[in-house]
Amino acid sequence: MDFRELVQERYSVRAFKADPVEQEKLDLVLAAARLAPTAANRQPFRIFVFDTKKHRAELQRLYPRDWFVQAPLVIGIVAVREEAWTRRYDDENYAVVDATIVFDHLILQAADLGLGTCWIAAFDPEIARQLLNLPQTWQPVAFTPLGYPADDWREKKRRDLTELVTFV
Ligand SMILES: Cc1cc2nc3c(=O)[nH]c(=O)nc-3n(C[C@H](O)[C@H](O)[C@H](O)COP(=O)(O)O)c2cc1C
Repeated sequence: MDFRELVQERYSVRAFKADPVEQEKLDLVLAAARLAPTAANRQPFRIFVFDTKKHRAELQRLYPRDWFVQAPLVIGIVAVREEAWTRRYDDENYAVVDATIVFDHLILQAADLGLGTCWIAAFDPEIARQLLNLPQTWQPVAFTPLGYPADDWREKKRRDLTELVTFV
């Protein structure tokens, strides 16, 4: 798939087959995450790969939707604030920005391999912290199921570029 096709074809998948994700595909998805750029190359993130079958009950507490646990894997990303670059002018910490870029790399690579994902941010961070046994400073940013889609691509609804872009 060329890049233009890839960004068109990726969509939020909310129904999954139970088919396993091949180890080689999971390896490629994680390798893409690793190659993502981060501020000052600090790589202030950790990725957690859940075997859904083993953790179904906890994952359902985290995000109570049936489709969230249909895929064989769920992946989560955590931002490690104390490892991140901060901007000296205003002390802005870029851990969450970095983790977001990493997750987007992972998601696009998954789509290129025919795998479905859906960004999930509507989880309770305290439940995520307990589940992953995280220190308070580590911030769970997003989760996604990873598996083969059982739903269909939908037409993308987006604002017009004229509303989103200003040429100055
Ligand atoms: C940061 C972020 C958080 C999101 N959180 C959720 C979520 O908690 N649950 C959900 O069903 N979709 C979630 N989504 C998916 C969006 O609803 C979806 O990306 C958007 O509607 C555009 O649709 P598309 O991904 O199919 O192009 C999230 C997307 C992003 C980027």
